[in-house]
Amino acid sequence: MEKILVLDFGGQYNQLIARRVRDNRVYAEILPYTTPIEVIRNNKYKGIIFTGGPNSVFDMSSPHYSKDILDMGVPVLGICYGCQLTAWMAGGEVKTAPVSEYGKIELTAKKSPLFENVPEKSVVWMSHTDYIAKAPEGYEVIGTTPDCPCAAMQNVKKGIYAVQFHPEVTHSEYGHQVLYNFLYNICCCKGDWIMDNFIENTVAKLREQIGNKNVILGLSGGVDSSVAAALLSRAVGRQLTCVFVDQGLMRKDEGDFVEKTFTSMFDMNFIRVNCGEHFLSALKGVTDPEEKRRIIGTEFFNVFWDEIRKQSDKGFFAQGTIYPDCIESGKGDADVIKTHHNRVKTPDDVEFEGIIEPLADLFKDEVRRVGERLGIPRELVWRQPFPGPGLGVRIIGEITAEKIEILQNADAVLRDEMSKNGYERNLAQFFCVLPGVKTVGVMGDHRTYENLVVIRAVTTDDFMTADWARIPYDILAKVSNRITNECPMINRVVYDITSKPPATVEYE
Ligand code: XMP
Repeated sequence: MEKILVLDFGGQYNQLIARRVRDNRVYAEILPYTTPIEVIRNNKYKGIIFTGGPNSVFDMSSPHYSKDILDMGVPVLGICYGCQLTAWMAGGEVKTAPVSEYGKIELTAKKSPLFENVPEKSVVWMSHTDYIAKAPEGYEVIGTTPDCPCAAMQNVKKGIYAVQFHPEVTHSEYGHQVLYNFLYNICCCKGDWIMDNFIENTVAKLREQIGNKNVILGLSGGVDSSVAAALLSRAVGRQLTCVFVDQGLMRKDEGDFVEKTFTSMFDMNFIRVNCGEHFLSALKGVTDPEEKRRIIGTEFFNVFWDEIRKQSDKGFFAQGTIYPDCIESGKGDADVIKTHHNRVKTPDDVEFEGIIEPLADLFKDEVRRVGERLGIPRELVWRQPFPGPGLGVRIIGEITAEKIEILQNADAVLRDEMSKNGYERNLAQFFCVLPGVKTVGVMGDHRTYENLVVIRAVTTDDFMTADWARIPYDILAKVSNRITNECPMINRVVYDITSKPPATVEYE
């Protein structure tokens, strides 16, 4: 398989660069700038992209790399900091710019294999305070902006190119074309990263690895574990056992939907552990949010592993880990960490043949595409994020069976109305919250004293920050009307108009 290396110097768009490369049907992987050059050499990459980063190349504590990388005969594209670094490594001059460029800037491009089908004048996205004052010997300036005498350069003979702007962001009008040109004109890629190939190859590899052994997978009903389950089912059928713990804190009818999907559409052993009662008694009288989360996490772990201990012939343990969970960040030596936050801890007394992570090379959007091709219902594949503790963090105060039912009913109406109005896929997340507040109302001629329900809906790219969604009043009116009419024990609906920060998306 053709591979492009995205060498990470700590910029904020590094994952985006890899995703854009993959959108062009070429596999890209991200490695930190601390990766030894021998590893890079042995990997036989078709091309290397140096990412942006927040530092100055002339500060010697900044991320640097061995100059030998420019002499390996592998095409290079430097972006932003990576562009300055390329110039610096090749003997050019990099200085603090008299005028920093930030935002949309007009680029004047010269003829170059990198700029094929890019007009002479186009808008690019810039974000830099240093600039290349003098291109290195043997390099030709192929792009300028009003404040940047070298916004792009090339050494065609060596296959080395660099751009000060960010081709990976959509604000760069022809950014997609620039990346395409690098991959196809310069690296001579053929474009073999196709999801159907991925499925075929992964199924073959899984069959080989698993042989006639068994596999156990913890299925949450979320996108990643569902797609991992479908892939494993295709590979080894009934050698796969999925354990689905229903802690009673899922959305309305969701447990049944997950069970029906996987038992009717996929060949596997499916174990559903219904333990709603158990969770309710563990949570009885508990109101502190952190304590609730802790109990739900601990109980989940206990129930899940107790079930697995019952399996006599365990074989392998599979997980739905995806690529962003595995990437090592390149943000300076001190911070080089491996984030494994989605990997499940296995208890010491449970032994497996090994761990299988069939989705560890995929980004979320690729996981969804694989899921669709494997025939998982769209409802599941395009599911919004749902917190591990489920409705437990959407019911403020003590959790009771009655409160769960009230919230599930209101939430089901909201989801139905949003889906009818085409919002299911256009909003990052929407749901109802039960804040545990009762208010006075009037129904018929009677005074009521019932629950208030909050609607929370947000737009966001990364969930680190979020804005409240501007849902049209008419839709909100319909939802409010339906909730108060159709759902017992609710007489008031409010809409949360707080962004994150200062609030968070969830309530606890
Ligand atoms: P917050 O509330 O932190 O949520 O703004 C950001 C995103 O994370 C999800 N979330 C969780 N997901 N386990 C999860 O798997 C959790 O404990 C958890 N808490 C929040 C939340 O739904 C939102 O998408």
